[in-house]
Amino acid sequence: EKGGYPHFMLKEINEQPAAITATVSPRVENGLPDLRVPELTDERLRRIGTVHLVGCGTAMHAGMVGKAAIEALARVPAQVEIASEFRYRNPILRPEDLVIIISQSGETSDTLAALKLAKSRGVPVLAIVNVVGSSIARAADYVMYTYAGPEIAVASTKAYMVQMCVLYLFALRLAYARGMQTDAEIRRLTAELLRAGEVIKPRLADCEQIKYLASRFVNTQSCFFIGRGFDYSLSLEGSLKLKEISYVHSDAYAAGELKHGTISLVTDGVPVIALATQKQVYEKTISNVKETKSRGAKVLLFTTRDAVVPDGVADYVVRLDDYDDLLMPLQLIVPLQLFAYYMAVLRGCDVDKPRNLAKSVTVE
Ligand code: M6R
Repeated sequence: EKGGYPHFMLKEINEQPAAITATVSPRVENGLPDLRVPELTDERLRRIGTVHLVGCGTAMHAGMVGKAAIEALARVPAQVEIASEFRYRNPILRPEDLVIIISQSGETSDTLAALKLAKSRGVPVLAIVNVVGSSIARAADYVMYTYAGPEIAVASTKAYMVQMCVLYLFALRLAYARGMQTDAEIRRLTAELLRAGEVIKPRLADCEQIKYLASRFVNTQSCFFIGRGFDYSLSLEGSLKLKEISYVHSDAYAAGELKHGTISLVTDGVPVIALATQKQVYEKTISNVKETKSRGAKVLLFTTRDAVVPDGVADYVVRLDDYDDLLMPLQLIVPLQLFAYYMAVLRGCDVDKPRNLAKSVTVE
């Protein structure tokens, strides 16, 4: 049932190209994104006020990528909400808003409660869910399913990947409906999204390199992930994955926040995993990495093929292929998933069933 893989997690990481194709291709029509939600017409999309993206854990991290894409492409204000916070904080919701509920299982108790709160306030709810007929799918006004297939490993990988894909599709259609990007740009990005499965295949093939890198960090007590923009959102997800299955303490910081406190923890040999894939802030992130290096950090840098990495900034560099900056999270997450996976394997952890965790959190 593991298809020849030693763990479900590794199987599911490798199923990502197929999951992307299954999720994205049915939603592209004549080169344009098509949400396949009859009620979410372009006319309706033009009237949306604020988008609230709500979920827990990894689903919430997908929401962060979605928020950035929605704001960048469609210039519609978007907020990311942790479901367990949202449900108790009396959020400001207006009738013209849209709540997007994100959940792999469709059964997470806080997420379902957030959905019910939004509905009780008369705000429409779009659910992005993987499990057909789940509680969240049934309670939402509209559903966009992710087609990841069953996800067994407690650590979410392929479900996160396709949650991001659906959010990109949503952001692209929203931008198209509101005329915020040229048709040519929407078509170009849609085509780029369609080939994401191909883009990540070489990253899956890099697994031996990532396993080697994990072996260089295997005795780590604690480490830091840093990045800006999308790279910050991915830092949070990479850090969560590592903590969840390898039991290595790690924290994720927006790179510019380091000097507001955290850098006091960076001393000789402390691992820093730096993500620098976004051209617009590349130099800024590299200067933060230098600050950690000059304090003795052991730096693992993830960046793009052509980025110029100054000498002495990183101990190890992993290069990604050229891809649109906006869609780069789809490519970057793969080596971060593999890094967490190999760290857990090398540390002898129960990869698919980490201690204290359940696949679906149906109690508060
Ligand atoms: O089923 P859901 O997407 O609602 O689950 C949300 C979180 O519990 C889940 O993503 C959790 O953070 C994962 N185990 C992380 O890998």
